[in-house]
Amino acid sequence: MADFERKILITGGAGFIGSHVVRIFVDQYPQYQIVNLDKLTYAGNLENLKDVEGKPNYTFVKADITDEEQIEAIFNDYKFDSVVHLAAESHVDRSIHSPKEFIMTNIVGTVNLLNSARASWGDGATEGKNLFYHISTDEVYGSLGAEGLFTETTPYDPHSPYSASKASSDHIVRAYFHTYGLPIIISNCSNNYGPNQFPEKLIPLMVHNLKQRKALPVYGKGENVRDWLYVGDHAAAIDLLFHKGTVGETYNIGGSEERNNLELVKQLCRIYDELQNDDGLKSEELIEFVQDRPGHDFRYAIDSSKIQNELGWKPAHTFEQGMKSTVKWYLENEEWLNNVTSGEYKKYYELQYNTGN
Ligand code: NAD
Ligand code: DAU
Repeated sequence: MADFERKILITGGAGFIGSHVVRIFVDQYPQYQIVNLDKLTYAGNLENLKDVEGKPNYTFVKADITDEEQIEAIFNDYKFDSVVHLAAESHVDRSIHSPKEFIMTNIVGTVNLLNSARASWGDGATEGKNLFYHISTDEVYGSLGAEGLFTETTPYDPHSPYSASKASSDHIVRAYFHTYGLPIIISNCSNNYGPNQFPEKLIPLMVHNLKQRKALPVYGKGENVRDWLYVGDHAAAIDLLFHKGTVGETYNIGGSEERNNLELVKQLCRIYDELQNDDGLKSEELIEFVQDRPGHDFRYAIDSSKIQNELGWKPAHTFEQGMKSTVKWYLENEEWLNNVTSGEYKKYYELQYNTGN
């Protein structure tokens, strides 16, 4: 077996953002061994990583971060020097219907990983190449009014079970730094979009419904604002922070591309009509205002000047470019979308790994 310079555990690598991060690490660092650990929940899809499978520095391990013994055993087997932790239950609406899974995976699962890292690296391991990099969200800061931006010092004020579970895990990760000297970095990012996002999230759901000529459900009046970032730009920021970030620090990442939901859905309709629409019905006519999400945060917007000024990161994609290429991707990858919506991608996993999971 090849001698690798580093052994890096990436959790949640079969999900949306995780698959983009895994691809960057596997392709750009052949000298690193990358282990993708994922439970393959409804959101985990190995089809996202077809092009990476078979590369000599890539391994997939199916495991559940809430299973303490399993996680300990995997750490003992591989002796990772670092962790990039993305595995999570990630959808706000699901957290409103069933909060407990969010507490288990996002909080207890994170604690299991922290404990295994601590046991493996020892206390006070802040020098050297050990790193526990925790990927988090801007939703921990709560909701903004019409003005202002979230900075790294904005007090936490999470509102949904999802954001409360992520806030909790952020606090625990920081506590392991202060108490045990575990080398950590946290980044809090705004809304991502791009290829391979599960079609429960706003943008892929809308593209899916546009293709089916189904209603486009906009919560409330569509006035809530999100700050959108192309997933490849988030993955590039994660790569940069992993290599150049300062241990113990938190970094905000955002696209500075604020849109209210109605504006965004109308933009999607325009792009779709330019690219594909052939039934004569103007897509905007499919917009339907539906009951609002309980506790719906009004506005998120990120001040990402810290990562920009200290490390030179900035998004490479404008929202207009990113949206066009994303809509094109979903139109050209009809099979991916159909497999995901029919659950067919689980069969791909069974075929690849010969299990009746
Ligand atoms: P996703 O739902 O697409 O993927 C999550 C992945 O985690 C899936 O592959 C799933 O199988 C895996 N997973 C879930 N529970 C697990 C468990 N118990 N054990 C092992 N694996 C498990 O999520 P995403 O949108 O790619 O988000 C990834 C991370 O980035 C999350 O931590 C999320 O909080 C954070 N984040 C997401 C966004 C966004 O806009 N999507 C923005 C900021 C931060
Ligand atoms: O801000 C980062 C967060 O962004 C991540 O931490 C989460 O994992 C990710 O899911 C996302 O959360 P949101 O709740 O902002 O994303 P979602 O795509 O679910 O919704 C975006 C906005 O669109 C939100 O204001 C709710 C609204 N919406 C959503 C759906 C699914 C609708 O109006 N209609 C819909 O059908």
